[in-house]
Amino acid sequence: MDPKTREELERIAEEIRHCTRCPLHKSRTNAVPGEGGFQRGVLMIGEAPGRNEDLQGRPFVGRAGQLLNELLDSIGLTRDDVFITNVVKCRPPNNRDPAPEEVKACSPYLERQIQVLRPRIIVTLGRHAWKWVCEHFGIPYESISKAHGKIYRASTLLYGVITVIPMYHPAAAIYNKELLPVLREDFQKLKALLEDQ
Ligand code: URA
Repeated sequence: MDPKTREELERIAEEIRHCTRCPLHKSRTNAVPGEGGFQRGVLMIGEAPGRNEDLQGRPFVGRAGQLLNELLDSIGLTRDDVFITNVVKCRPPNNRDPAPEEVKACSPYLERQIQVLRPRIIVTLGRHAWKWVCEHFGIPYESISKAHGKIYRASTLLYGVITVIPMYHPAAAIYNKELLPVLREDFQKLKALLEDQ
């Protein structure tokens, strides 16, 4: 990542750490702006920080994060190759779903992160991130059970041309073991896509 991009991302991250745009700031320990070396131009978007992420201020560091690391490793990637963030940057109490007003208040941060990073590929993890990307990129929404593992191409003036692969959330595969092979297969599709480029 070039120094200017890193500097701009850090500016956004500082704003996120001090954000008071929605009530989630009152219960957070740390906001979680996102991180990663982005060497392969892949942006991964999750839902919102959980307990461990809130404590550390870093994305995907709990159990779902361990599985994500393993999935990345299975296709020869590390966190240095991707940038990982979430739709909502502060933990919703008791890990409830983010409320629509919270998503709305937080969206400008993810919009700016995408504009600064200019990812070639976006991987959405779970239905919240998939829905967010559909709404922002003009992709017709289909349920995650239908959409996962498919390759979508979006072209917008604001974000340029981006390839999107929706996937199940790693936490879903921890609770429902049947989803694990599906997630592994979808990561193989990401691998093939990277090899094609
Ligand atoms: N789940 C998410 O969606 N994001 C995180 O950062 C951690 C768990």
